[in-house]
Amino acid sequence: MLKKIKSLIGLDIGSSCVKAVELTQVGSDLVITGYGQSEILSEKSKADAILDVLHSSSFRTRRVVTAVSGKSVIVRYLTMMQMSPEDLQNAIKFEADKYIPFDVDEVVLDCQRLEEPADGGRTGSAGGEGMRVLLVAVKRALVDDHVGLIQGIGLTPDVIDVDTFALGNAFALRSSLSATVERDDRAVALVDIGANKTNVNILRGATSYFTREIYLGGDDLTSAIAKRFSVEAHQAEQMKRDPGENGEEIRQVVMPVIEDLANEVHLSFDYFENQFDREVEEVYLSGGGSRLPFVEESLERIFEKRARNWDPTENLKINSDSVDVGSLKANAAQLAVAVGLAARIRKD
Ligand SMILES: Nc1ncnc2c1ncn2[C@@H]1O[C@H](COP(=O)(O)OP(=O)(O)OP(=O)(O)O)[C@@H](O)[C@H]1O
Ligand SMILES: [Mg+2]
Repeated sequence: MLKKIKSLIGLDIGSSCVKAVELTQVGSDLVITGYGQSEILSEKSKADAILDVLHSSSFRTRRVVTAVSGKSVIVRYLTMMQMSPEDLQNAIKFEADKYIPFDVDEVVLDCQRLEEPADGGRTGSAGGEGMRVLLVAVKRALVDDHVGLIQGIGLTPDVIDVDTFALGNAFALRSSLSATVERDDRAVALVDIGANKTNVNILRGATSYFTREIYLGGDDLTSAIAKRFSVEAHQAEQMKRDPGENGEEIRQVVMPVIEDLANEVHLSFDYFENQFDREVEEVYLSGGGSRLPFVEESLERIFEKRARNWDPTENLKINSDSVDVGSLKANAAQLAVAVGLAARIRKD
């Protein structure tokens, strides 16, 4: 019997590095059939970095899913009266200006009803007849720039997502493919430490309850090293990745930045725990910033809860004819958003 085969590329255009992961659905299996990444050397060379990535692997498709993030993206969790999806789409246009700090005409809006948890709504209860709704507003100018960039290099964006939800989707995909069944009513926090920002997404099962973007990341660690050793950013970056004999001094230099970041993330946990009367049980770390060996242990100490790095490619099959498996695994920490974007193939 012929198996239905379809592919989709998750293209994560980070502020420092472009990552692409192609997922192909072969029957009921999901296989990584393409992977590439390339550092962005300057804002102007973003398109070059994307092209570099697309040429680095034999991708099967040109269909891409990308994401936006940053201060022009507003995410709100609302409680609204029960209504049909069509009515919700209409109602949100009138409701949105209450919740977003921009003019409604300046933004692209999207909304989605959130599933209620299995405990009858103890966490995030909409109460009575209400329903929980996720509202996302993105400044039109950001969407236009983003689409311009993608189309400019001859690609067609299938869907434009938001980094933090892609992160959640990657985690949900990993859980759904896992042989060990974890209780999905527990609250876990995903923390993705990028170059300029850190995304926090607190989930129960596949449902997001809280997201926040914190404007601190791996590049702040690099800046601290550059300052202490009076070296250029690229040299500091090298020292961070390969500290050699400066290991202990580098650790001391970056620790205050890690502590600042941890304290900010902790505030998000406090907010969630107060609002929903439920503890964040475990923290899953990703993003290039989590690759420093002592980040995991430092965050675990500060949060006083289990924090661990996770591999978003862990339960996926990999086609080793088209993918450099060693390189994919070495960089897996950075691939959560790209995998989560490509995971939309399951909704095709
Ligand atoms: N081996 C490593 N050790 C320590 N840090 C690393 C390593 N490799 C990459 N990084 C850091 O990871 C960061 C890039 O990670 P990532 O690709 O997740 O960010 P990004 O998606 O480009 O940024 P953002 O999400 O903020 O837009 C940089 O700050 C880089 O210095
Ligand atoms: Mg990123």
